[in-house]
Amino acid sequence: MRILVTGGCGFIGSNFVRLLHQERPDAEIINLDLLTYAGNPANLVDLEGSARYRFVRGDIRNPEQVDALVEGSDALVHFAAESHVDRSTKRPGEFIETNVYGTYVLLDAVRRLAPRARFLQVGTDEVYGDVEFPSFPDENAVLLPSSPYSASKAGADLQVLAAHRTFGLDALISRCTNNYGPYQYPEKLIPLFIVNALENEALPLYDGGTQVRDWLFVEDHCRALLLLLERGSAGEIYNVGANQDPEVSNREITRLILELTGRPESLIRPVEGLRPGHDQRYAVGTQKLRALGWSPECDLVEGLRRTVAWYVERRDWWEPIRSGEYRAFYEQHYGQALGSGKAAAPKRAAKASNS
Ligand code: NAD
Ligand code: DAU
Repeated sequence: MRILVTGGCGFIGSNFVRLLHQERPDAEIINLDLLTYAGNPANLVDLEGSARYRFVRGDIRNPEQVDALVEGSDALVHFAAESHVDRSTKRPGEFIETNVYGTYVLLDAVRRLAPRARFLQVGTDEVYGDVEFPSFPDENAVLLPSSPYSASKAGADLQVLAAHRTFGLDALISRCTNNYGPYQYPEKLIPLFIVNALENEALPLYDGGTQVRDWLFVEDHCRALLLLLERGSAGEIYNVGANQDPEVSNREITRLILELTGRPESLIRPVEGLRPGHDQRYAVGTQKLRALGWSPECDLVEGLRRTVAWYVERRDWWEPIRSGEYRAFYEQHYGQALGSGKAAAPKRAAKASNS
């Protein structure tokens, strides 16, 4: 069984490759990743030397590179994408090129060279747009993406459905809520706030912090993807989410992070206007996936504790990231809103632990 994973050096992709390698000893895994700012080969350094794992640096928008890897593959799991909403409001064209055109290049190669291969599109709940409480959209809900990012992911999903219907590809889609956990690039809310707290830097909380996301620990998402790869039905869409009850606001997540890192609330810096079109709430109905036997294993407090502990231990992973491209984006995006960035020194020492 040869499985081509795209974007396997990113956050969720690398967690998935590790799980697949561990759980399926018969799987030969090829990881196609361009290594954009978000891709880090260090995420999978533990697999170097495995005879069943190969990394290929390449671009999903390049048909020659894609053809060579798709031929002979039994399945594709497609993670590669531009994934950050704030970047999409500044450079939407890059999201169309990677997320829409890149997905087309992959589907076209499968159609020509591996027409029986399974194609799992890793999608997002953001395609349903801003969802009013107490609604939980199911997989047939209307698509109302708000940002260039979510619109590009919706465009990719629609191509996948068309490739199934028109060309008979064995393709299916997952749509997951917000992930968090080890190896997440510190531009998304949870890892950004953890590393900023550890560095006693301000936490830029947008628009009052009242927004709601349905946070899922990354390993739970990866287990759902493995299940769908093996037992999902072609042409179908499956929502994936934790269905937290009660729902949790960004402000509450921020407070939990400050508690786990032993930092004061004075680090919170309210900012307005950095995310135009900011969605208030995401939520999905997950009955279809749960009927296949999946449910999350890690609750939010335990998941955050494990995540904080990982970032405390793995400064070697994130400190080098906080320079270069990261610094350029950070300063351009948050610069004026955060002033100098450095907040008052904390009164208490960090006390996050593995416990
Ligand atoms: P990420 O930004 O951490 O990783 C993206 C990876 O794709 C990187 O390794 C990058 O180098 C690679 N990549 C980008 N452009 C490429 C190209 N042209 N060719 C080859 N590789 C390329 O993203 P993530 O958070 O791990 O998300 C992975 C996927 O899951 C995305 O499709 C995203 O839309 C989806 N998703 C993410 C979340 C979340 O909360 N992070 C939730 C639901 C769905
Ligand atoms: O819902 C799934 C999606 O979750 C994925 O498809 C995306 O790839 C992923 O980035 C994530 O999107 P969000 O926009 O919800 O995640 P982000 O971490 O960027 O923001 C979460 C919330 O936190 C959102 O309401 C904005 C807010 N926020 C974010 C940042 C980066 C802040 O208040 N301050 C910040 O600095």
